[in-house]
Amino acid sequence: MTEQTAHEAQFRTSLLEENDGPGTNPTENRTMGEIIAARFSRRGFLKGSLAVSAIAATVSPLALMTAEKARAAGASAFTFDEVEAGIDDKHHVAAGYDADVLLRWGDPLFADAPEFDPVKQNAEAQAKQFGYNNDYVGFIPLEGSSEHGLLVVNHEYTNPHLMFPGLVTLGEKEGKKVLEQAALSKEQVDIEIAAHGGTIVEIKKDGGKWQVVRDGKLNRRITANTEMQLSGPVAGHDRVKTNADPSGLKVFGTINNCAGGVTPWGTYVMAEENIHGYFSGELPADHKEAGNYKRLGIPEGSYEWAAHYDRFDLAKEPNEPNRFGWIVEVDVNDPTSAPKKRTALGRFKHEGAESIVASDGRVVFYLGDDERFDYVYKFVTAGKFNPDDRATNMDLLDEGTLYTAKFADDGSVEWLPLTFNEGPLTAENGFESQADVLIETRRAADLLGATKMDRPEDIQPNGVTGKVYVMLTNNTKRKEDQVDAANPRAKNAFGHIIEIIEDGGDFTATKGNWEVLLKCGDPSVAEVGASFSTATTANGWFGMPDNCAVDSAGRLWVSTDGNNAKDTGRTDGLWAVDTEGEARATSKLFFRVPVGAEMCGPLFTPNDETAFVAVQHPGDGGEEWEGFGRPSYYEDLSTRWPDFKPDMPVRPGVVVITKQGGGKIAV
Ligand code: FEO
Ligand code: CA
Ligand code: CA
Repeated sequence: MTEQTAHEAQFRTSLLEENDGPGTNPTENRTMGEIIAARFSRRGFLKGSLAVSAIAATVSPLALMTAEKARAAGASAFTFDEVEAGIDDKHHVAAGYDADVLLRWGDPLFADAPEFDPVKQNAEAQAKQFGYNNDYVGFIPLEGSSEHGLLVVNHEYTNPHLMFPGLVTLGEKEGKKVLEQAALSKEQVDIEIAAHGGTIVEIKKDGGKWQVVRDGKLNRRITANTEMQLSGPVAGHDRVKTNADPSGLKVFGTINNCAGGVTPWGTYVMAEENIHGYFSGELPADHKEAGNYKRLGIPEGSYEWAAHYDRFDLAKEPNEPNRFGWIVEVDVNDPTSAPKKRTALGRFKHEGAESIVASDGRVVFYLGDDERFDYVYKFVTAGKFNPDDRATNMDLLDEGTLYTAKFADDGSVEWLPLTFNEGPLTAENGFESQADVLIETRRAADLLGATKMDRPEDIQPNGVTGKVYVMLTNNTKRKEDQVDAANPRAKNAFGHIIEIIEDGGDFTATKGNWEVLLKCGDPSVAEVGASFSTATTANGWFGMPDNCAVDSAGRLWVSTDGNNAKDTGRTDGLWAVDTEGEARATSKLFFRVPVGAEMCGPLFTPNDETAFVAVQHPGDGGEEWEGFGRPSYYEDLSTRWPDFKPDMPVRPGVVVITKQGGGKIAV
């Protein structure tokens, strides 16, 4: 559905997130065709994960009645009155809750940071202000408090047509209104660079309301120009050396930080996702990195940074792209520390990096590679987490085993190690070391026969239930003969969620079992094949799961990217999803975003009394909403959220949700 919205291709909109670049998976790993039918007749059929509309075609009325009865018997674990799905220029939260804007693009983060002035914005100011397009949100408690801590936020990308006055004009193409964008100035490129990266900011609940501590001593902005280190097996390798860095150890900046995580030892990890858009130019003929870059869709060139900075031009710096596509770890306790790109976790379009301490003390990071037909990964540290020794934990991410997932039709999953000289990962296939395996993680996983997935986004381990949830956002390019048990729908427009249970409940296990928890989309349309429970209302279903969170009670919350098209008349939002008992696969809408936005975050404080959600690219679109009905740009915005002032543009922002009168959310 949202594969192709009405946006024009030259605009860097959420379309970029669809990863429609040429970096597609060329391999012919096993597809399982008709196996899906067999699988559903064998497992989990009347356990109730199929919607009535989908069941109706294939089972008797008697069986249907049984299923309905079972569904009705299960009460949702979430207590709140649903928001009505729809589309307008505001955000909406369930009745009885406050949803206050905590941080907006341009908000000053330091005592000496200037106030936001959209018509006089400059890079120096931007580097001291909250960045653009907030995606991942993490909370690191200070002194164990759920009311005082560090908020860490990724700034994934920039939307020049919404950020810069006078850049865009409204034109017409084939009878349709389109936006035409002028070239960016160097100053505008510098603002973009400063608006990328991440924010670390102290926040505190004061008088019942969350406040930003503007001069917090740990406050920090990380940008696409912050000096950082390459760490782990790839550090110092010839393939990451450039003219500016002949050591192969020092990188400037991090880009396209989508989701991320907070480690058990209290560092902030940022996932570099769609790196292909930042590179332009051509590699010299027959360059050895040609195949490597093609597999990632590099260069895509939707950013204009190469016009001003040689390192983004492949002709001038052919190794620079190998220095991006990593998981970046930031020591939030030291604002002067160099963030470290932890190469042991592989190089691909990293969505996020949520982690959990396994029973033996090793730490497991679950990783998704967000592209159609790409893979699910996990990284298991070699060393053990020691809660009493932060210093020892600080380099845990440099050593361990990276695995990719092979989902079998019998409901089992095998984790295949990406280890040099094991299996096909040898010199014969062009790998001379573990560094080569990691630089070309995708090719290594191709050779291992990993299962091609429908765009893996967030993967969240659940410490309460011991399960792992995999968000698969969509893949309309999957053909009928490419359907398999773990990716059960051709032209999968709405995505699905897989649940993994590792063998013995051990997150380090190399084998496990899996189920489809939920096939997303409108369950009232039989052809969609959605599998929400019958207790799910017309507001409660969703499509395109992207980010997710598990609260302290082990309950799953899912945020979406892509609902807001004219086909559905509804925006993205945050849904509460039952995973256990009779209510399994029941979903309820808790919060929805303004027009044009996607929903990122979400994150709960340890006491479950506060939820943070990130409203990303609000106002990026408006044709789909009959209240606007035309392209949205700086001078003519579909929403001026959150300020609603005529002299203020739309501003991506983080919203803090609390219950009126206090208490745990949805209890
Ligand atoms: Fe940046 Fe996969 O979403
Ligand atoms: Ca995402
Ligand atoms: Ca997204």
